[in-house]
Amino acid sequence: MRIVNNLSRAINLPPSNYRDRNVEAYYQPYPPQQKKQPSESVKQKTGFWGRFTSLVDIARMNRFLVLGDQGSHNENQMRVAQAIWQRYLNPEDTFGFALILGDNVYENGESELFNDAIYRPYEPLWKAGVQFCPVLGNHDVRQHDGSIQLNYWHALQEQFTRKILNIKSPQQNASTTPRYYTFMSPNEKVQFFALDTTVFLPGLDGTYKNNHVWARQLAKEQIQWLKKELARSKAEYKVVYGHYPLCASGMHASLEQKEMEQLSNELGRVFIDYGVDLYLTGHEHHYEKVRPFPFQQPGFVQIISGGGGKKERIFYPDKPPYPGIREAVISDFNFLVFDTNQDELTYKVISGDNAVLLADKVPRKHQSGQQIAIA
Ligand SMILES: [Fe+2]
Repeated sequence: MRIVNNLSRAINLPPSNYRDRNVEAYYQPYPPQQKKQPSESVKQKTGFWGRFTSLVDIARMNRFLVLGDQGSHNENQMRVAQAIWQRYLNPEDTFGFALILGDNVYENGESELFNDAIYRPYEPLWKAGVQFCPVLGNHDVRQHDGSIQLNYWHALQEQFTRKILNIKSPQQNASTTPRYYTFMSPNEKVQFFALDTTVFLPGLDGTYKNNHVWARQLAKEQIQWLKKELARSKAEYKVVYGHYPLCASGMHASLEQKEMEQLSNELGRVFIDYGVDLYLTGHEHHYEKVRPFPFQQPGFVQIISGGGGKKERIFYPDKPPYPGIREAVISDFNFLVFDTNQDELTYKVISGDNAVLLADKVPRKHQSGQQIAIA
């Protein structure tokens, strides 16, 4: 608590009794109060599953939200956030944790905007105990290389989150959210690997001006860590997520083709060799599903979902500017809700008006318990 209090002063964290009338008026109905957590002795007696109180609760813990490029702190972000909250209140789609794909605070990751972009739009979700699992985007690392923002995420997580996920990272410490980490879904069907992709492309968008060498070193460390963790994973689905896509059909693809190819060369080969099923990413402000061919073989699915607070037209509507199969592309505000309770990994693409735009699934590549042989 001492860390949180210090951080509250340092980065203007909302106090635990923080209320904002504008936010309260925006959300109807207002969120239920967070349930009282069971005592340590009850947890020890009943184990992990004893912490959940109903079948809806258990199903919820095994669904997750995917949200990218949301941090515009304007009416667009609020509109999508309200749709997310309505979706959370639907027992069929309610979710326990959220993958946040970066560009969390526009334009420059300003610390004075953290409350407006990270906390306020999702206040009901924070108060319901949803566990946010963020990575950084290029806009986030323009100030302090994103490190102060990671402290802020950690402070919010400590203050509000019902911790259902066991986060593991070589960077783990008591005062900040790591830049890269792994965790399992509570039913242990899916293993997630969160990456800081911004350090793979220092210099892009003016990032890491004074820390180019440090950034590239961190990229190398992540690759080594990712290979090791993927190789020993026994999960049915291996899902990686990070801010930069390996290929895309939007504005950034028209400007950053070389950089996307570089990232594809570094990460795409690892994804194929180590059995990644799905790469979730943002940066572009639309929805796009693709089976890329970085090495002449369709080894994994990449899904872009970067419509959490900004919208952009598709720059290549007729033919994608990359080799591979583009299965769908939608220009709209959007977020995703994934369900790991089914045999296959299913998901819905949902608009800023809370309409289901598409229901789809990710095919499974291997059976539970199968490890990848390392070359
Ligand atoms: Fe971005």
